[in-house]
Amino acid sequence: GSAEKGEFKHFMLKEIYEQPAVMKAVLEGRINKGHLLEQAFGSEAGALFDQVKQVQIIACGTSYHAGMIASYWIEQLVGIPCRVEVASEFRYRPVVMPQGTLLLTLSQSGETADTLAALREVKDRVIGTLAICNVPGSSLVRESDLSLMTNAGPEIGVASTKAFTSQLVALMLTTLALGRRNGLSAEREQQILVELQQLPELLEKLLALDSEIEAMSAAFAEKHNALFLGRGTLYPVAMEGALKLKEISYIHAEAYPAGELKHGPLALVDKDMPVVTVAPNNAMLDKLKANLQEVRARGGELFVFAGQDQSLKQQDGISVIRLPAIPTLLEPIAYTLPLQLLSYHVAVLKGTDVDQPRNLAKSVTVE
Ligand code: G6P
Repeated sequence: GSAEKGEFKHFMLKEIYEQPAVMKAVLEGRINKGHLLEQAFGSEAGALFDQVKQVQIIACGTSYHAGMIASYWIEQLVGIPCRVEVASEFRYRPVVMPQGTLLLTLSQSGETADTLAALREVKDRVIGTLAICNVPGSSLVRESDLSLMTNAGPEIGVASTKAFTSQLVALMLTTLALGRRNGLSAEREQQILVELQQLPELLEKLLALDSEIEAMSAAFAEKHNALFLGRGTLYPVAMEGALKLKEISYIHAEAYPAGELKHGPLALVDKDMPVVTVAPNNAMLDKLKANLQEVRARGGELFVFAGQDQSLKQQDGISVIRLPAIPTLLEPIAYTLPLQLLSYHVAVLKGTDVDQPRNLAKSVTVE
């Protein structure tokens, strides 16, 4: 059953390896003839989505990082404003909810105290509420107008893995539902759905990098700090990579948007501070390369998860793991998996309690 580890040493590793299947499960029954079936969100979904003028996303922890990625997608593909905030901040400040706001909560458990409280706080001031959640019948789902289940199956490891990548797929489906009302063509929708359906195959290819990533992890075991860099949707991915590393390996890790490197963190870079970068092939690659040179010039050791661009080469002080070709919109989903494996292997080397890291809980149901 899914509550057993089977051949895996830890639940976290099992859950990382379940991701190809989970990508299938979250799409199951939600696509028909190349189009999204928006009834998947609930019978009232169509009428509600028609009225949405902006989106406010609320979440905690890993779910918050998924929300950050979605905000890039919504502004890019739907073209309506999207804000994202951690629930513990949102619930305690006077917030302005412009007319036509859809409140979108994200939660693996559906029981996170701050997220629930934030929902209850503004429920009456928004046009509707949508919960993207992994637990059917959870409080968040029961108290929201609409819901979309992530169908990832039980997640036991405290550090969230498959719940996150399945949230991203659910968020892309949400983006399409809003997009088709805001000028996103049926053709583009179909194209994106085709890409999403390639995820199981793509994630299998990424899992095949496991031993290469395991070998890389040795360089982190003795370190006390690490810096993660990314741009665009890969900035939240860098945040998620840093969060995974600190949660289970207890190494202090921070993420920065690569362009902010010069505004502070560069002062910390030396040979004892590994810098992990997610660097795909996009318009920002040249800028990212300049950032990497800045790190290298200060003796910092670089660990780059790179796309197909061959100009980023393995050399002294720069370890490169080359990822297979990835459609741009899938980059945040795809680049997350190798970072999960990296923190997993570092934690195993350090001998920590991977599935139940000290001081952390799977679900924070009290404040
Ligand atoms: C805890 C867990 C995290 C999770 C966060 C939000 O901190 O340890 O893994 O991301 O809660 O949980 P949720 O269930 O709301 O996604």
